[in-house]
Amino acid sequence: GAAVTQDIGSIEDGQMIVVKYRGKPIYVVKRTEDMLKSLESVKPLLSDPDSAESLQPEYCTNPTRSLEPSILVVEGVCTHLGCAPNYRPDVGAADLGGNNWYGGFFCPCHGSKYDLAGRVFSGVPAPLNLPIPDYSMDGTILTVGE
Ligand code: FES
Repeated sequence: GAAVTQDIGSIEDGQMIVVKYRGKPIYVVKRTEDMLKSLESVKPLLSDPDSAESLQPEYCTNPTRSLEPSILVVEGVCTHLGCAPNYRPDVGAADLGGNNWYGGFFCPCHGSKYDLAGRVFSGVPAPLNLPIPDYSMDGTILTVGE
């Protein structure tokens, strides 16, 4: 119960909105073609690139971790100690550790990094990819929960 519905038709390319579901922030990102391409190129840098260990519905166990490739729906809850990671879509920026930033989510608490599918990078405190909740899409209407 307690499903949440949101019209996401007005999210611009590359933008994120936050929807509350069961007290958790759900991040909804409209990914661009370039962002989708980056999902393949960062794979060697990830702890669990195929999301074998992470929590997501079966219909999101795929290379984009989503129902529709352009729309990412992910819990904004770091798998280390539960902080809310910041959305940092700026591909190619320097990150706080002096490395290249590939675009994704940066947790300010202890520096965990996730890509634009919520997959965790190697060598950070967070052990798992960001979880993906149950959701469905009907045109531009997103429903989180069942
Ligand atoms: Fe995110 Fe520790 S809570 S890195």
